[in-house]
Amino acid sequence: MDLKLEGKRCLVTGASRGIGECAAEMLAAEGCDVTVVARREDLLNALADRIEGAGHKRPHIIVADVTANDAPDTIREAACKAMGGIDVLVNSAGGSRPTKWDAPEEEWIEGMTLNFTALRRLTTGIVPVMQKNKYGRIINITGSVEPKAVNIANAAKSAVHAWAKGLSRIVGPDAITINSISPGRIKTEQIIKRHPTEEDQAAFSKENIPLGYFGEPEDLVCLIVFLASPVARYITGELFHVDGGMKYFAH
Ligand SMILES: NC(=O)c1ccc[n+]([C@@H]2O[C@H](COP(=O)([O-])OP(=O)(O)OC[C@H]3O[C@@H](n4cnc5c(N)ncnc54)[C@H](OP(=O)(O)O)[C@@H]3O)[C@@H](O)[C@H]2O)c1
Repeated sequence: MDLKLEGKRCLVTGASRGIGECAAEMLAAEGCDVTVVARREDLLNALADRIEGAGHKRPHIIVADVTANDAPDTIREAACKAMGGIDVLVNSAGGSRPTKWDAPEEEWIEGMTLNFTALRRLTTGIVPVMQKNKYGRIINITGSVEPKAVNIANAAKSAVHAWAKGLSRIVGPDAITINSISPGRIKTEQIIKRHPTEEDQAAFSKENIPLGYFGEPEDLVCLIVFLASPVARYITGELFHVDGGMKYFAH
């Protein structure tokens, strides 16, 4: 299938590792002009070398902390300067760690800022760029909707789902779609830290994942690439689970 992504201008946050890194590679392989954002410059440079080495357009690099107060403006302006606009935004920067239900307020603010507020602010600043162009694809990488206990990232990701649904109704008339993807256990830096050995992964998979194994970033990023494409024009306000069947409930 021709996804018609050639020349689309894509901004990917959290691109130094994991899902974001893989999204940058796969979008570049589709002929997109890509800008990558994260804090670790050395990893972004290595990614750019790899993409260019594979014969694709070298991505533009923005070294930034998405939670910084001025991040939405500086990232949007640098991306627009580098690419002349933004057609696709992949919000992948984020992270979860075990937290207690009565965690100190600073921990709540940090987790909510990283996983909801920063994403919302960056997207809000970029929507007018897409509205002017009458085209846009926004894809949020979120997380579980089935809390077993209280986790800050989980609350923040749920906020993204509700906010994205609302925003889809506002930006639809400008041919902008916004969708969220919830990963189960995809083998990335933060997941490997939590499940460091093959034995850990096998035990967790046996208990929780019907397909029986942890996913690779490509297993999820193929959906990002599809949702980023003009072909996916009629899909918006949705939440997709890429989790090997891990989500227990039907809805
Ligand atoms: N993998 C899974 O199975 C899974 C499960 C549930 C949810 N998720 C969600 O999926 C998204 C992608 O995570 P991943 O699994 O690909 O994890 P990862 O391999 O650990 O990558 C996380 C990325 O986010 C970036 N990042 C973190 N904090 C940042 C900040 N303050 N400013 C800028 N960049 C920041 C990191 O870059 P720097 O450190 O270089 O800044 C890195 O590139 C996250 O939102 C995560 O919560 C993943």
